[in-house]
Amino acid sequence: MDSILVTGNGPLNGQIPIAGAKNACLTLMPATLLSEEPLTLTNAPRLSDIKTMTALLQSLGAEVSSLQDGQVIAMSSHDLTSQTADYEIVRKMRASNLVLGPLLARFGEAVVSLPGGCAIGARPMDLHVEGLEALGAEIELEDGYLHAKAPGGLKGAVHEMRFASVGATENIVMAATLAKGTTVLKNAAREPEIVDLVECLRKMGAQISGEGTSTIEIQGVDRLHGATHQVVTDRIELGTYMLAPAICGGEVELLGGRVSLVESFAEKLDAAGVDVVQTKNGLKVARKNGRVRSVDVVTEPFPGFPTDLQAQMMALMCTAEGTSVLEERIFENRFMHAPELVRMGANIEVHGGTATVTGVESLKGAPVMATDLRASVSLILAGMAAEGETTVSRVYHLDRGYEHVVRKLEGVGAKIERIKGQ
Ligand code: UD1
Repeated sequence: MDSILVTGNGPLNGQIPIAGAKNACLTLMPATLLSEEPLTLTNAPRLSDIKTMTALLQSLGAEVSSLQDGQVIAMSSHDLTSQTADYEIVRKMRASNLVLGPLLARFGEAVVSLPGGCAIGARPMDLHVEGLEALGAEIELEDGYLHAKAPGGLKGAVHEMRFASVGATENIVMAATLAKGTTVLKNAAREPEIVDLVECLRKMGAQISGEGTSTIEIQGVDRLHGATHQVVTDRIELGTYMLAPAICGGEVELLGGRVSLVESFAEKLDAAGVDVVQTKNGLKVARKNGRVRSVDVVTEPFPGFPTDLQAQMMALMCTAEGTSVLEERIFENRFMHAPELVRMGANIEVHGGTATVTGVESLKGAPVMATDLRASVSLILAGMAAEGETTVSRVYHLDRGYEHVVRKLEGVGAKIERIKGQ
């Protein structure tokens, strides 16, 4: 297995291009199942999660081609052969469950494996099921699979979600595009990836309003047609690389970045003493004087502080002046990076969903292990700010969500290399 070797060094300078959003692409790809006509995505990120979704769609009989070095994904679901999402693929990636709503809407039937436990929490699918049942689906759990049926087709309904789940919102919105009548989804998630999905569905002929607010209204149509859509910028990759100059010092411009994608996060950086400025081409982030100040963080659904940036923010707080409290409210088990950061000399105490971090003057390089996608990149950030060498193992997690991470960080002066495993 490959590992990443990082050697702590001084300030960073230069530019990093930000890719299209993994989480947007993973919901845009299943949208192809809603139509017989081709759907083409541009600005797609080159990631292993995208390959997993490609394999899943192909297992259903969809044609999926990767063009222009993976940045364009051309799909057609003209001749689907199966409505079953197999456990062998779903267990690799929870987002596989996003085929449920589209398959059910187009064919009145879908069989989708439950994703099972994953490293950062239980992550059930009850909110997806409740929403689809509100649209008239009959769903049963058998042998670990959700068997969903809507023999007479789905029917629009008013439904309020108990929690603003991102994936459930996406599944319900996609299903409702082909339902009879109007669906009003209340307490919907407001993430930019959902806005991006709705913009794509609208290009395909869907009638939807209210995306980006907590009430989304969908007027069902008989069929959707083909479209070409550009994937929105990855706000989590953006936020991650905004932390690079924050933790190492220097000035880095994140090409394609927009403050509106990371507002609550940028406010925290500002409070910590990091400058964030919108430029013509992106966001310029600089830390010029001394250590950053500690800030408290509570993760929340968008527009709150994203859970997917909590681990990386913790890495920054490890070297901040003072004590910060990080509260994780989205996932119940998302501090697995904390013991690894402690191995690098960080001072962190975890009690339930709260981590208290007292900043130290400097971290020390160590061999550490990535436990999930965002944890792995937090260890790289910490290693860039540490004295000596840090080796991050199990980097396959990283390949799920960060394209060309070594090249991008090297480009701004970080000392980082990928070591090929046996
Ligand atoms: C998406 C993102 C993920 C991000 C998360 C929260 C994708 C592919 N992934 O995941 O990177 O961390 O949003 O911003 O877009 N829950 C239930 N029942 C359900 C569904 C969810 O209890 O039916 C719980 C989950 O266990 C979790 C919380 O709700 O504790 C948030 O989950 P959700 O918003 O659904 O996240 P995902 O769509 O899985």
